[in-house]
Amino acid sequence: MHHSHNRATLGGKLSAVLVAAGSSVGLGNIWRFPYVAGDNGGGAFLVIYILCVLLLGLPLMLAEFSVGRATHRNAVGAYRALDKRWSFLGYNGVLAAFLILGFYFVVSGWTAEYMVHSVTGSLAKYTTAQEYQSIFENFIQNPWRPVLYTLLFVLATHFVIALGVQKGIERSAKVLMPLLFVILIALAIHSLLMPGGGEGFRFFFQPDFSKVTPSTLLVALGQAFFSLSIGIGTMVTYASYFKPETNLRHTALNVTILDTLVAILAGVVIFPAVFSVGIEPTSGPSLVFITLPSIFNGMPLSMVWSSVFFLLLVVAALTSTISLHEVITAYCHEEWHMSRRAAAWTTTAATALLGIMASLSVGILNGWKLFGLNLFDLLDYLTANIMLPVGGLFTCLFVGWKLDQQVLKDQITNHGALKFRIYRTFIFLLRYLCPIVMLLVFLDNLGVF
Ligand code: PHE
Repeated sequence: MHHSHNRATLGGKLSAVLVAAGSSVGLGNIWRFPYVAGDNGGGAFLVIYILCVLLLGLPLMLAEFSVGRATHRNAVGAYRALDKRWSFLGYNGVLAAFLILGFYFVVSGWTAEYMVHSVTGSLAKYTTAQEYQSIFENFIQNPWRPVLYTLLFVLATHFVIALGVQKGIERSAKVLMPLLFVILIALAIHSLLMPGGGEGFRFFFQPDFSKVTPSTLLVALGQAFFSLSIGIGTMVTYASYFKPETNLRHTALNVTILDTLVAILAGVVIFPAVFSVGIEPTSGPSLVFITLPSIFNGMPLSMVWSSVFFLLLVVAALTSTISLHEVITAYCHEEWHMSRRAAAWTTTAATALLGIMASLSVGILNGWKLFGLNLFDLLDYLTANIMLPVGGLFTCLFVGWKLDQQVLKDQITNHGALKFRIYRTFIFLLRYLCPIVMLLVFLDNLGVF
């Protein structure tokens, strides 16, 4: 196996958890989770989602960590080093990272704009949810402002990567993540106490399985993978920088728990408020951008709350865009033999272009549709519901059946230094349960049953 020299490794004990959690916790938890849960019936979706996270997501994250740290390579190089025929898995990841960044940068730009409007006080000028809906629509359909914010976000990501200020991000994440947690809890309490909030609480926690369709299962699976950043080579790439003594299974468990708690908390913030101010829980990607300002509006010191909250959201988004950018940068750097600088600029230029197109596709180019979806929705659907689950399926098959079991054991137990009592359960999940469940979900969606 190759061990490339002078490759960076991550510092202190906490960093593995921090950077991996930084990648996982992002807009996927706070923007995407509530909107897909709302679209897919609420409570029943939550139950299925949690099952997907525990039974499929967690073992897969551990599998990806093992592949990354065993090879010390980018996503493509890692699979190639283990078995040439499986390098397509890495390509699927690099391509998915590119396509995700296309719409993720746009939504990140929206959060940056909302942060600015919170600080200047202009967000606090409105009162009703209907007003917030129309300012949101006006904003995203504006031909240049969202594009500008998208580009700003692309550049911010680029400079963090290029200047190697990951350390700074690592350190600030230590403070900002707990703060995000505290704010979410405060907002959740406020939201629950809003008049009519109980109905939203029931919507989110009372499963109504009659609303479950084949697509609910696929969407839950896709959302779990998206939120945990798996099925795409991000965790392979990050783990390639982990130290030999990092405990992979603790890292995977901590990241999974943290990520899921943030998503659930986001649901407890959003749904009571949605019902209280009378918005449809099925209003799609705009859901949180209409709901959140309405929540802040009813709070004392609303400007402070919303400024701090959107700032944290910007930071959470940034640590995720960095991880996606890194997948592509590491690939270009190591496989195309570019300097890191050139690799980072190539990634930045390509994703900026796609981001601009995606941003315009919800505004002036909204008429351009493929399969009935504009570019923004298409990128979102294609990556989360197809490329990530497919990537996950093949990762299971590869690690469960193809990979030398000794390599896997060595990574998980740090060459025998740690115990892993549930190894057999883990292998069973990877070999049988995960692939079978995923296949059934796919076939179900293709209408086979
Ligand atoms: N997990 C991130 C989020 O929830 C998004 C992401 C997906 C990041 C895939 C990396 C890889 O916001």
